[in-house]
Amino acid sequence: MPAYAGPIYIMSNLTFGIIKPDAVKKGVHGTIIQRVLDNGFKIRGMKLIHQTRRQAEGFYEVHKERPFFGELTEFMSSGPCVVMVLEKENAVKAWRDLMGATNPAEADEGTLRKEFASSIGENAVHGSDSEENAAIEIAYFFSKLELV
Ligand code: CMP
Repeated sequence: MPAYAGPIYIMSNLTFGIIKPDAVKKGVHGTIIQRVLDNGFKIRGMKLIHQTRRQAEGFYEVHKERPFFGELTEFMSSGPCVVMVLEKENAVKAWRDLMGATNPAEADEGTLRKEFASSIGENAVHGSDSEENAAIEIAYFFSKLELV
């Protein structure tokens, strides 16, 4: 979750998601997008980006004191990823439920991380952990004009 000083528009029906570089490299991003749609989410914004190291460090600033910060930001800037704004009732929880546990070894059957993640670092997808952070994370990657 990046530091963000601008206005925050909290919407309980929106969340932010990333299909991470490991999943895009494996070519499963299309399958993951289909699963998003099959689970009743509307896609309000979507783009393929390749983050710089600095952009990834900004996004994960909240984790900057963690021992895995270097590994995490190197990985997130290692290749293209898909950033998404997803709409559904109780979107934050609904997207976290579909993703599964951060560590794929603990992820439930039927979740995206169980199926597509290979480790706690290369775990296929990201999702906001609260409505407030969803608003901040959406604003980090999308302007208002990019949301439909
Ligand atoms: P994400 O939901 O993107 O939010 C922070 C990320 O840090 C998390 O998913 C994991 O991919 C990563 N992460 C958490 N713990 C570890 C760890 N012990 N080693 C490497 N990466 C981690």
